[in-house]
Amino acid sequence: MSTPVKKVPLHLQSAQNRLLIKHGKIVNVDSVVDGDVYIEDGVIKQVGSNLIIPGGTRIIDARGKYVIPGGIDPHTHLEIEFMGAKSVDDFYRGTKAAIAGGTTMIIDFALPKKGQSLLETYQKYRESADEKVCCDYGLHVGVTWWSDKVREEMEILCKHHGVNSFKTFMAYKDVFMLGDSELFEVFERCKELGAVALVHAENGSIIAKKAQQLLAAGITGPEGHQLSRPEPVEAEAVGRACVIANQVNCPLYVVHVMSKPAADVLVQARNVSSASGQSPVFGETLVAALASDGKQYRHTCWYHAAAHVVSPPLSPDADTKNRLLHLLAEDGLQLVGSDNCTFSLDQKAMGKDDFTKIPNGVNGVEDRMSVVWEKGVHSGVMDVKRFVAVTSTNAAKIFNIYPRKGCIAVGSDADIVVWDPVKTRVISAKTHNQAVDFNIFEGMECHGVPEYVIVNGRVCVDEGDLKAVQGFGKFVPTPVYSEYVYEKVKHAEEDATLNAVSVPAVVTKMNELKLDIAVENGGILLEPKLADEAPVSPAAEASLTSCPSSKGQRNLQDSTFSISEELDDTARKSCIRVKNPPGGQSSGGFW
Ligand code: URP
Ligand code: ZN
Ligand code: ZN
Repeated sequence: MSTPVKKVPLHLQSAQNRLLIKHGKIVNVDSVVDGDVYIEDGVIKQVGSNLIIPGGTRIIDARGKYVIPGGIDPHTHLEIEFMGAKSVDDFYRGTKAAIAGGTTMIIDFALPKKGQSLLETYQKYRESADEKVCCDYGLHVGVTWWSDKVREEMEILCKHHGVNSFKTFMAYKDVFMLGDSELFEVFERCKELGAVALVHAENGSIIAKKAQQLLAAGITGPEGHQLSRPEPVEAEAVGRACVIANQVNCPLYVVHVMSKPAADVLVQARNVSSASGQSPVFGETLVAALASDGKQYRHTCWYHAAAHVVSPPLSPDADTKNRLLHLLAEDGLQLVGSDNCTFSLDQKAMGKDDFTKIPNGVNGVEDRMSVVWEKGVHSGVMDVKRFVAVTSTNAAKIFNIYPRKGCIAVGSDADIVVWDPVKTRVISAKTHNQAVDFNIFEGMECHGVPEYVIVNGRVCVDEGDLKAVQGFGKFVPTPVYSEYVYEKVKHAEEDATLNAVSVPAVVTKMNELKLDIAVENGGILLEPKLADEAPVSPAAEASLTSCPSSKGQRNLQDSTFSISEELDDTARKSCIRVKNPPGGQSSGGFW
């Protein structure tokens, strides 16, 4: 058990608050630069070479190491009550384990049951988390039912409680699942509030039917979990969610994309929305999906198989992990979360005779960074900049805490990892820091180990020794209207307005992308065509992988800052050709 944090009065703070990381390779999403980072009072104060530093500063030698932004895990469920059990990693153990692995912020989910207040659920999570978290955290809130009260509470959460994202479920029938018209209402409300809609995309009605059939046929083991959730059932829901979000022009973030068909649908939706300037779609996959697969459900040990039960399930196709990894590398998918939702083997045993009663969830909050490094960077599929994008920066941008988080720049929080790319470790439940008694990555050797993990300026992993402090973390509000996300929505609306008044030709910027967009009755039907030489890369998209310019640096008093100056409005609208052929109409299109 660690000691709770003691606040040191400002006048007593001294050299312990000053830290210099020297001679490292400093990585941001668009640069790797040799240099030093100077930290004072939890904030990065200088980045560069030959820095002038006060005496008594602690020096960390990062020669031969990468200095990367601390990981942001956008998807955890610490101490969640779900399927009749409470997950065993609480906010203390879960965040301590996160830090051990190089993650310095998590975003968890406050999920009300149907009929429960969103606000009260949020407050309950805050009360529990605030005193336990070792690193910073944010909260997504679940919308699991719909009413005027829910509508109002969404606004209160956005305006007064630092929430900018709401998770909806198309699965877990009768528990969390919403129907299409409810999804429409929630997405529309998210759009009104400047929030991001998150969706768990699986067709819950089909799953419930198939589960009944399987149980009736005597299939009760963990393989039934996978059989009841065939891949098209995930893909169908991804497509449906994208269509619904598109109808209300709401930015959509699809959580835990687990299969090739679902990823294909997501990528198609992204291409269409970015080609046409419509509301954006983002995709997250899970570290479990990059390193494991569905053959685990047929393991001879029931406990082993049950420990892998997660929804959507691990894919039966052993090549899926490879595809998801490549999509992450190529920006088909944007983030990797853990969906850490850990139940002990005893808890998993609740489903010994009925796979539908196995609490769903796996570990990953501790090992996410190392596993992505091993599978992605060490294997040569992605470079270190993309590693930073998918494990940290993209989450910071989407959830509007960039560049306070997700980058190494003057004014950013000093959430930093000194990453040793050569050192190795072998993952095991015997040595991990999580409370759960199983590790789905057991035995995996990972190159890439966090040597130092600095959380808000405090060294919480020190030469590999974990020194996390209970209660040291804080709740980080996520403000609405993420510039990165809503910039695209704004342009979608401008374009729709132009189309509605039948402007014959509008020259719009989408980098080199050339499109033919047919217009009918004021609505856009899409037939994206790429110019021969042109990769799809809208201007705002570029901001996802760009580093803050000095112009865009944070005012130290601000919790977030705007990148809008970096995106010139006229530049943005310079090369979509909109055609409005008389009576013309595009035949194909995603929506
Ligand atoms: O199996 C899972 N994914 N458990 C956590 C709840 C959820 O759906 O994210
Ligand atoms: Zn989910
Ligand atoms: Zn989840």
